[in-house]
Amino acid sequence: MKPVRILVVLAVAALASGSALRSPLRPPLQSLGGIAGSAHDFSAQGWNSSGEICRPCHTPHNASEDDGYLWNHDYAAAGRTYWDGAVDNEHSLLCLSCHDGQTALDSFGGMAGSTYMAGAANLGADLTDDHPIGVEYPVGSSRWGAVTTTSWGHTAVGGSLPLWGAGDVYIECTTCHTPHSAGSSGNFLRMENDASAMCLTCHLK
Ligand code: HEC
Ligand code: HEC
Ligand code: HEC
Ligand code: HEC
Repeated sequence: MKPVRILVVLAVAALASGSALRSPLRPPLQSLGGIAGSAHDFSAQGWNSSGEICRPCHTPHNASEDDGYLWNHDYAAAGRTYWDGAVDNEHSLLCLSCHDGQTALDSFGGMAGSTYMAGAANLGADLTDDHPIGVEYPVGSSRWGAVTTTSWGHTAVGGSLPLWGAGDVYIECTTCHTPHSAGSSGNFLRMENDASAMCLTCHLK
């Protein structure tokens, strides 16, 4: 088993360093089907009295945190366990604000909610049994897929999987996923993973 370093990350620390988490790079996310009717369309959920699609995650005004993306959802107050050497980044933290199961789904827009994610989509606070996030992509290694600079000035593997950061580049939830488009195979993947095509984009096996 790979040794892990335990990082107890308090939400207050994350919030205090909000500006450090913010990335100035905003590549467009792929549109592979749209959010309406997807697993991220919460407009018909009892816990979303606004009936809006975007509001559990974004607000046009008075965004609750200084993390960009007009973010409207609370972050987890409890700690998480990351992979050895992993670095906190908003491109994973925004997802984990629901998917670590620590903060209620309906804790948005300043409300204190009480509905928590259940089932397999709840990754839990221990992320060491999930694909590494917040770890550096080994650019230039012959065992890894080549990266390119995209037309939007960002680094991507295989031209379609964005790596986040400037200089050193990192893999995050939104490297493999996009929050807005379920895609034809579901799971909000940025590309199909038939015959593990997405895995093979990075891991040259
Ligand atoms: C389940 C949460 C969630 C919902 C619902 C959601 N978004 Fe997002 N959105 C995100 C996350 C997370 C990001 C940041 C993506 C990243 O880090 O790469 C984002 C980024 C964005 C961006 C900036 C990047 C881009 O794609 O251009 C826009 C614009 C956006 N969302 C619009 C919307 C709109 C409009 C709606 C409603 C129709 C919506 N979103 C619904 C989670 C959500
Ligand atoms: C506002 C809370 C919230 C945020 C923020 C959020 N999700 Fe989700 N997500 C959910 C819920 C609720 C489901 C449905 C869970 C279920 O079906 O049990 C879901 C489902 C999913 C699924 C499974 C889709 C399927 O077809 O079953 C994936 C993959 C996913 N989310 C990825 C992400 C990623 C990546 C991000 C960040 C870019 C993100 N989510 C941000 C609440 C959220
Ligand atoms: C290396 C690529 C990769 C990264 C990084 C990644 N995922 Fe995934 N994720 C996948 C793939 C591929 C699937 C589909 C798995 C399958 O089909 O069994 C998936 C499935 C999921 C599901 C559905 C699980 C289920 O069993 O219903 C959720 C939720 C999810 N991812 C959330 C996240 C979140 C949140 C992050 C960041 C903490 C993340 N993912 C990071 C590739 C990735
Ligand atoms: C965007 C690039 C990318 C994609 C896509 C990707 N990986 Fe990875 N993967 C990485 C990086 C980066 C690491 C961390 C490497 C390191 O630090 O040694 C990693 C680590 C791993 C590890 C080693 C975990 C350990 O114990 O150290 C496995 C296994 C793995 N990935 C499997 C997969 C599978 C299966 C898929 C497809 C579902 C996949 N990866 C998709 C980039 C990627």
